[in-house]
Order: sequence, then C-alpha cells, then structure tokens
Amino acid sequence: MTAGELLAASGLPGAEARALLAFASGATREALIAFPERVVAPEAAARFEALVERRRAGEPMAYLLGVQEFYRRPFCVTPAVLIPRPETELLVELALDALRSIESPRVLELGTGSGCIAISLALERPDARVVAADASVEALAIARANAQRLDARVDFVASDWYAAIAGEFDAIVANPPYVAASDPHLADLRFEPLYALTDHGDGLGCLRTIVAGAPAHLARDGWLLVEHGYDQAAAVRALFERAGFDEVRTVRDAAGIERACTGRFV
Ligand SMILES: C[S@@+](CC[C@H](N)C(=O)[O-])C[C@H]1O[C@@H](n2cnc3c(N)ncnc32)[C@H](O)[C@@H]1O
Repeated sequence: MTAGELLAASGLPGAEARALLAFASGATREALIAFPERVVAPEAAARFEALVERRRAGEPMAYLLGVQEFYRRPFCVTPAVLIPRPETELLVELALDALRSIESPRVLELGTGSGCIAISLALERPDARVVAADASVEALAIARANAQRLDARVDFVASDWYAAIAGEFDAIVANPPYVAASDPHLADLRFEPLYALTDHGDGLGCLRTIVAGAPAHLARDGWLLVEHGYDQAAAVRALFERAGFDEVRTVRDAAGIERACTGRFV
C-alpha cells in the first residue's frame, strides 16, 4: 500500500497517523506529506497497523513513540513512568526563579519519574547540585538513561520520599501522585502507572508527607515547590502554613488553573 492509503485507512487524525507511520517506516513526516504515492514496505506497514490499533485502543502517543518533549527537550518514556505534562513546566520555571540569586544551589526532586524536572533544572542551572529520588527502580532506570542521553548531571536515589535523603537543600521540588482514588479521571489515565497518579486516598496523602518532611531537609530560606490538583490549592496552602512556611502562594498554569504552591522556610 502507499503511504497515503495507509494514512487514510488508519482513521486517526492526520498528525498522529503521520507520526506513527514515520516511526514505523523511518520516513520523515515531511516526506509522507510530499510523497503520499510512495509504496510502504510490507513490514513497515504491518508495524504501522499494529501501532494504529494500539492508538485506537487509547494508548498515549508518547508510549507508542517512546518519547515526550518537556521544556524543549525529548525525554524517553515507557509505561513505567508518567508522561511529562506541559503544565509541569511551570514547576521548572518557578524553581529557576526561586534559585536565581543562589550560587551553586542544592536541589532535591522527589518523585522524579522520567527525570524531566530534575534534568531540566540541571541543564538550565549547570552550577546546581541536583538530587532526584523515586521509589520506583524502573522509573529511576529511565531517568538515569535520560540524564545520560541529555548530558545532565543528576544524582539519582531510590527513596520512599525522604527516607534515604541526606543533607540539606536550597529547594525541594515535587510533582507527586495527587489524584484522589475516587476521581473518575483516573480511568482515562489507565495506561500510566497508578503509583505515579494516585495516593489511593483523598489525593493529598503524598503532599502531606512531602510538605511535613520538607523543613528538616531545607537550608535556611529554602524553597518548597509542589504541583497539585486543580481543586487542591487551599488545602495545600494550609499544609504549607501548618508546617511553618512563609511567603506561601498558589500559582496558576498557562490554562489559568491553580496548579502549584510555593513557600519559603525562614
Ligand atoms: C506524578 S509522577 C511525577 C513524575 C515526574 N516528576 C513528572 O513530573 O513527570 C509521581 C512520581 O512519584 C513517584 N512516587 C510515588 N510514590 C513514591 C514514594 N513513596 N516515594 C518516592 N517517589 C514516589 C512515582 O513513582 C512517580 O514517578
């Protein structure tokens, strides 16, 4: 079959179909647009059709292609890690802002997954000492491989939140699992690891642990920056205030949704 026939038969939106056919056949997306009459080798066509089937069953493009862009860089992903979300780039921006006046800052990321936050921070601030932790050894293997490929200096640690973390930090950053077990949106996220999405409770369980433990690991004037769910802003501010943080504020993402909380431990 020709590229044009395969793309049309897929029933997928054009951009998705072209990305999958490019991946399956090795052709560029531009070539697929310019030369739809070109015949696709049968093995490549079979690979493409298998990918189309998975996509039609709802599997995210990032898992099919094995890559997701974050903060302008490509991160390899597998179903062992959460797919980096564009709204999480806000956390990177906020951390870079908080660390602007600190020389050689010490940064801890909890729940690193693909490593996208820690690696972005390490590449944007090459003078920083970045430690990134996750409880999942599978996730840590992906994060380490991403750091190596992107040439980022990050120390990875297997840790249940702070359990294996030593030393103090100028900033602690975390995008923890914060979807409540009862949230119907979890069903739409069925291809991603449950341990990356939910605390199996009210959605605030991991945030409680991270906020309560932060003062013991922060240097004087150190920052805590966390991402949270669309309806958790007031509850997370209260956690920060109860733990003794100053300058507590909620920040909205590009879509106008209350998405992050930051505070300083004086
Ligand atoms: C929402 S994902 C965030 C991944 C990545 N930082 C990002 O923003 O794309 C949450 C991460 O927390 C990790 N995690 C879950 N429970 C943990 C725990 N008890 N200790 C450390 N990490 C944990 C998961 O493995 C997952 O990688």
